[in-house]
Amino acid sequence: MKLGVVILAAGQGTRMRSRRPKVLHQLAGRPLLQHVIDTAFELSPDRVVVVHGHGGDEVRRVIGDERLNWVEQPEQRGTGHAVRQALPALEGLDRVLVLYGDVPLIRAASLRRLIDTTESAMGLMTVELADPTGYGRIVRDEAGNVLRIVEEKDADDAEKTIREINTGIMLVGLERLRVWLERLSPDNAQGEYYLTDIIAMAVHEGVAVHVAQPEEAVEAEGVNDRAQLAALERVYQQWQAEALMADGVTLRDPARLDLRGTLKAGMDVELDVNVILEGEVVLGDNVRVGANTVLRNVTVEDDVTILENCVIDSAHIGSGCHIGPFSRIRPGAELVGGAHVGNFVEIKNSTIGLGSKVNHLSYIGDTDMGADVNIGAGTITCNYDGVNKHRTLIGDNAFIGSNTALVAPVSVGDGATIGAGSVITRDAPADKLTLARGRQVTIDGWTRPTKEEG
Ligand code: UD1
Ligand code: CA
Repeated sequence: MKLGVVILAAGQGTRMRSRRPKVLHQLAGRPLLQHVIDTAFELSPDRVVVVHGHGGDEVRRVIGDERLNWVEQPEQRGTGHAVRQALPALEGLDRVLVLYGDVPLIRAASLRRLIDTTESAMGLMTVELADPTGYGRIVRDEAGNVLRIVEEKDADDAEKTIREINTGIMLVGLERLRVWLERLSPDNAQGEYYLTDIIAMAVHEGVAVHVAQPEEAVEAEGVNDRAQLAALERVYQQWQAEALMADGVTLRDPARLDLRGTLKAGMDVELDVNVILEGEVVLGDNVRVGANTVLRNVTVEDDVTILENCVIDSAHIGSGCHIGPFSRIRPGAELVGGAHVGNFVEIKNSTIGLGSKVNHLSYIGDTDMGADVNIGAGTITCNYDGVNKHRTLIGDNAFIGSNTALVAPVSVGDGATIGAGSVITRDAPADKLTLARGRQVTIDGWTRPTKEEG
């Protein structure tokens, strides 16, 4: 049986009060719609069709997923009308699963419950909610058979007390779906073509309506405003935190971790509170990350300690490094291993060799640094002449005195020592002391000025 998935994503999302289409708002660093698309593909469907409307071009550009079939619904005339637009794109399939682009937490395991157990042409996913306000209600007969769905706006007082609601997720045989969609009418409180009306049609034809529930009710929750988006973000972060802990990661507080991407963690990784991980982050064994640190697209090898308040972006941190607190490591930084980078140090597009130390108040940019180098406090590589960037080379075992400016392009030889306070504009030879600053003098007979009278 060939399975198609239709994701409805044409709604405007007025309550978000945003210029951005609702389905592009992000949950854990990924657009809402992308969550639904990724879940859909976990089911290995034969086709995935997205119905877009408002902001369609932007949606297609941002999602940019080659595997999708896009269908436009220029006017939003209801969920039934939306699915009807998708029919030409569903040619040749047997069953159609309808998902919503603004219901991002639905999981493949829950969808499989519906797919694997539905034998008739009509499968429906419902949940019981303590507060069913706003949702379509599932109306059943005395024997418990589903009769129809009534929308909140069309429901009478008795129907409004029903706590079993329509998640919107349905699995329908394509052949019946075509016929039923053809018969929909907008004769209801909202003047829309309701997809939900096909349930009564199925019942009328004697098609059994098969009902399944998701593993967790929250999976069915939609995002209509920013408060709901924030609430679902917390749920999703909690799930991720639980998965990480199950994999052996220590989280000092699972409620204070934000993973907006993927984390691959080795053994005995410890994350302190308010760590933010973005993009693809890889942490080796025994990596410790201090509070308030941001790691974005970073690979960290084994036995690395990152202290509090660091920002590390698009960098590679070799094993045994010690970083922070308050270090900023920018794109293109490569710490080979065993390096120490301390407070108020910025490193960009540079290699820091094995065991080298940049412990305090430095800017190292566009630099190739060898092994066992010691960079004194306040050392700056002057890599930019106002027009072009130039590189600085620092050989193995060099010692750069505090408050040195290295004016690139320039190179410091292996084992060279640079006196503190130097401005180095020419290459400094290996194994020698180079100084570039005014010599200290002491003036004999000088006296401090005295206050003039009057
Ligand atoms: C819908 C269901 C309701 C269910 C609820 C679950 C109908 C008539 N009602 O109501 O039973 O409890 O979802 O969340 O189906 N969309 C389009 N084109 C349209 C209209 C909607 O693509 O013309 C998309 C929206 O972008 C959204 C989804 O369909 O992703 C649901 O639409 P929405 O208007 O939010 O439906 P509800 O009133 O919430
Ligand atoms: Ca909705």
